[in-house]
Amino acid sequence: YTSVKELFRNTSQYTDKEITVSGWIRSVRASKAFGFIILNDGTFFNNLQVVINNELENFDELSKLNVGSSIIVKGKFIETPGAKQPFEMQATEVQIEGASTPDYPLQKKRHTFEYLRTISHLRPRTNTFAAVFRIRSVVAQAIHRFFSDKGFVYVHTPILTGSDCEGAGEMFRATTLDLNDVPKDEEGNIDNKLDFFGKETNLTVSGQLNVETYAMAFRNVYTFGPTFRAENSNTARHAAEFWMIEPEMAFADLIDDMDIAEEMIKYIITYVKENAPEEMEFFNKFIDKGLSERLDNVLNNKFERITYTEAVELLEKSGEKFDYPVKWGADLQTEHERYITEKVFKKPVFVIDYPKEIKAFYMKLNEDNKTVAAMDLLVPGVGEIIGGSQREEDYDKLISKMKESGLKEEDYWWYLDIRKYGGCNHAGFGLGFERMIMYITGMSNIRDVIPFPRTVNNCDI
Ligand code: 4AD
Ligand code: MG
Repeated sequence: YTSVKELFRNTSQYTDKEITVSGWIRSVRASKAFGFIILNDGTFFNNLQVVINNELENFDELSKLNVGSSIIVKGKFIETPGAKQPFEMQATEVQIEGASTPDYPLQKKRHTFEYLRTISHLRPRTNTFAAVFRIRSVVAQAIHRFFSDKGFVYVHTPILTGSDCEGAGEMFRATTLDLNDVPKDEEGNIDNKLDFFGKETNLTVSGQLNVETYAMAFRNVYTFGPTFRAENSNTARHAAEFWMIEPEMAFADLIDDMDIAEEMIKYIITYVKENAPEEMEFFNKFIDKGLSERLDNVLNNKFERITYTEAVELLEKSGEKFDYPVKWGADLQTEHERYITEKVFKKPVFVIDYPKEIKAFYMKLNEDNKTVAAMDLLVPGVGEIIGGSQREEDYDKLISKMKESGLKEEDYWWYLDIRKYGGCNHAGFGLGFERMIMYITGMSNIRDVIPFPRTVNNCDI
């Protein structure tokens, strides 16, 4: 089969040639004498117009085909200058591969995103979701390319783990125990020793702790995989299962960390513009009218860098009425993050040096003993898309921080080892993959950028 992408990319090569294409019907319009089938073959965002006429033996049957049916078309490719579409195909033979039933849920009218979420197995057949999920694939490729061009080693960190990287206790428990008949010890506690691994395990919330150990062998590494969080927050930016890109660099500090994060974001945007121009044009036209301009601004400007303390001052001075009060020591809420990026700077902003109490145990303590070398990247429209830090390389400080956080030394002995055996300053970050897709496409709900979203009360398809 000739792909529709190939037809769009190298149109003149096919002029007046016989070709065969296959795909799914987006719409059929027919009169007694002739008709038009709009076909999408899956290789390209745009559709192919197929002209049928009543000389085809199955013309009547074709005229009545339902949307969604799959067909194989033989015919002549002709250019149609001046018409709405640059070319069309005049069918000489159409084979019906799989007719669709009349209850096909995707009719030609516009459907709401809410409705389409209830049929996540079918929504990639719509324009919007075809564009979203092709971009998702292109962004993944961009990320691998970015890091491999820089010599980073791609490490597969485990999904099943006994540790809690973020220390926030938001893990999904992984167990083989029969929940109706859980073995208990003498005190009535669940006896984890009888479980598959002989201990309590969960799905990973982050690959960071494991990937840090590999940074001490390969220097520059990254992991890119699914992560799981049982955050009970039903928002448009939180999913229970999401993907994260986590680079980790040895002999690097917080500045290096921000530099690479900024370079990566700009690389991804450039790569997507080059490799998915039709999809990006669609988003700019139908989803978010300011998108192209905003992304161009991102490419042409340096990201802002401010401290948490400066962010708090600027929020306090803003005169805005926030739902959550602003106070040094409290975490920034989405409304605060959005004010900073959307109202004040109108571009991506790194906020660094957060109070140690509100950040994870592994972050390096700054000389003021009050803040840690953390960085969050906030962007207009989405809020936080990256969280990262320089890591605490001092063995004793790390141990005392773990104690404060209630983490057991014996569970993290291997993580502590890398501070014992040739530790060095190192830094890394985590980019939320779905949030990056939201940022690039202008889609406003995380449920609409992940093929089969898992959120509170939703694990159906
Ligand atoms: O800020 P977080 O929690 O950082 C970490 O997990 C570090 N271990 C990363 C590192 O330094 N290697 O998460 C990183 C990013 C967030 O900025 C956000 O974009 C995304 O992951 N994220 C989520 N995305 C969707 N749904 C959720 N529930 C998310 N939680 C975090
Ligand atoms: Mg964070």
